[in-house]
Amino acid sequence: MMIVTSMDELRIGRAMLDEPVGLVPTMGFLHEGHLSLVRKAKEECLSVVVSIFVNPTQFSPSEDLDVYPRDLERDLRLLDPLGVNMVWTPTPDVMYPPGFQTWVEVEKLTQPLEGARRPGHFRGVTTVVSKLFAGLQPQRAYFGQKDAQQAAVIRRMTNDMNFPIDIVVCPIVREEDGLAMSSRNKNLDPQQRQAATVLYRALTEARQAYDAGQRGAGELRRIMEDVIAGEPLAKVQYISCADYDSLDELETVQGKALLSMAVYVGKTRLIDNFVLQ
Ligand code: PAF
Repeated sequence: MMIVTSMDELRIGRAMLDEPVGLVPTMGFLHEGHLSLVRKAKEECLSVVVSIFVNPTQFSPSEDLDVYPRDLERDLRLLDPLGVNMVWTPTPDVMYPPGFQTWVEVEKLTQPLEGARRPGHFRGVTTVVSKLFAGLQPQRAYFGQKDAQQAAVIRRMTNDMNFPIDIVVCPIVREEDGLAMSSRNKNLDPQQRQAATVLYRALTEARQAYDAGQRGAGELRRIMEDVIAGEPLAKVQYISCADYDSLDELETVQGKALLSMAVYVGKTRLIDNFVLQ
């Protein structure tokens, strides 16, 4: 497994890779969700590259950049047995050289949901992902459905910028009790960890109502709110029932829809979603 940091090392390493090349972009502290993306990439590509970079520009000053978990040694130990060909670990100076002033921004899709609560977040994501794409030039790139809006924004950007890259979005990987896997779960104490299952329970109740014929988006949002309100350690930031493609809030669910939420459990902000087809 090659490990490269600088753009020069990346270019030399890239030239040795058989194509198609699949990229799995990550911020490290890998869990089973990331590893499922790597396995999928291994199935579909002759070479797999994992990038590990905690991207400072997608965190606002009030967010958890400093406490974001990092453990490169552990990440490399997890990746090696999966047959990853190259790990790219750029430093902030490599990604944002002195004098950096060029940004990639998707306008409308980044306005609601996460974008409304995390100003500048998606500008940081799309900028860094386009730099990963430009540097590596993969044929495919793998993202998780857990960050549903991020996946939609990256699909839009890839299309708008004519990047010749297939975007593959893989299902959410969950713990046995339904909690979506996330690097942030490690910040939960045992009581909070127990409470955190409330996101999955709320989504499940809303989906049961949908399966039973409920199409009122307001009613589906209310069901989720009521479940979360029953958990004293949880505090809703947003709850949404939106059109899957535009992410506009719905009145009635007719086509494909996205149920999504951001909920604080203690100081930890968790997100989760279900797709209604
Ligand atoms: O989903 C993530 O981990 C990050 O947003 C990404 C795509 C690696 C960009 O920094």
